[in-house]
Amino acid sequence: MPARILVGVTGGIAAYKVPELVRLLRRAGHSVRCVTTAAAEAFVTPLVLQTLSGEPVRSRLLDPGEEGQIDHIALADWADLYLVAPTTANCLAKLSHGLADDMVSTVALATRAPLLLAPAMNVNMWAHPATRENVSRLRERGASFVGPEVGELACGWEGEGRMSEPAAIAAAAELALGTRSLAGECVLVTAGGTRERVDAVRFLGNRSSGKMGYAVAAEAARRGADVVLVSAPSHLATPAGVRRVDVESAAEMRAAVLRELRDASIVVKAAAVADFRPSAPAQRKLKKEDLPEGAGLSLDLERTPDILAEVCRAEGERVVVGFAAESHDVVEAAQRKLARKGCDLLVANDISSPATGFDADENQVVFVWPGGQVEELPVLPKSGVAAQLFDRVEKLREARH
Ligand code: CTP
Repeated sequence: MPARILVGVTGGIAAYKVPELVRLLRRAGHSVRCVTTAAAEAFVTPLVLQTLSGEPVRSRLLDPGEEGQIDHIALADWADLYLVAPTTANCLAKLSHGLADDMVSTVALATRAPLLLAPAMNVNMWAHPATRENVSRLRERGASFVGPEVGELACGWEGEGRMSEPAAIAAAAELALGTRSLAGECVLVTAGGTRERVDAVRFLGNRSSGKMGYAVAAEAARRGADVVLVSAPSHLATPAGVRRVDVESAAEMRAAVLRELRDASIVVKAAAVADFRPSAPAQRKLKKEDLPEGAGLSLDLERTPDILAEVCRAEGERVVVGFAAESHDVVEAAQRKLARKGCDLLVANDISSPATGFDADENQVVFVWPGGQVEELPVLPKSGVAAQLFDRVEKLREARH
């Protein structure tokens, strides 16, 4: 949902990345305004920020001309989110003590919007007990942090202190803007395609990219849930605010899911779990020279455990959502699958369509309910499908409470 994001810029070298951050926030549909300290202007010019945000930049607190355009209290009230990037050590200290002697710190004190900080500083400044204290005090008051990351620092040192990349900060901003409608819920999501070992170098896999499951995990986090994502191998970045547990095979996924299940109030099984695995995987690489000349190879396969069915049978009051990848008779097959597994909702998709099948960014799904009702959704980005899914899950939770 489009929001009003106020970006506070303080004087660190990482300020040169802020124009890119502003561009990303605008591209996501948000309105952006910037406020800066005097020191920030040494690293990024107000004109760049003004051009990219499309709004005048405020930097001088007591300037009659600037105050006349929009006063600092009106700015503080305008914001749905106050994002300070970069946050220098000096700024952290001011915010933690409630000082208000420049534009950025004054707005922080005046606003009622959530505060998101992207620190950037020398590794020793970040590790200093004074900074540690400031960070914990701000966290206790509800501020969120993104970064800093470990890496090469502009000061020549290596270590924790680099400001997060603009894309990561923009993702954290989405999270901080979230609705909180799933606050207090613990959501367990599975994603990706499992790999079943054939020998030391080969596996049986499938074409699942994990995009749907990752979108589900990101949406749950955005709504304020505690999220654990049990993920088969995937190149995707872990969504902001999500704890990720990496697994490879169906057996490992089952073990991880059962370990995490006790705390979960909502389970969404978007993973493409292998149904069969080699019954006797070879410890070493299978070599052609060990076979008779020209001979083929047969693999003996056995069934894997059905994790979703097991989750549905497990004790505890929770909402369980399954996915069904179907290539034909989508609705009928999904209805049979729902009855067989016993979940609360089954999300069926037709994988035969290239625009919405494996690895696509969009999906077209049908929600299949135990009572026999069917809801066909239009083609949506996978994030949109995830949002629709949680709208339904929230209603189910409400009905049961
Ligand atoms: N699933 C699971 N464990 C398995 C197989 C599937 O937990 N061993 C889950 C998937 O995560 C998904 C749902 O069951 O949520 C349906 O997966 P799908 O592969 O479509 O169904 P299958 O039960 O494997 O049936 P089939 O392959 O015969 O269509």
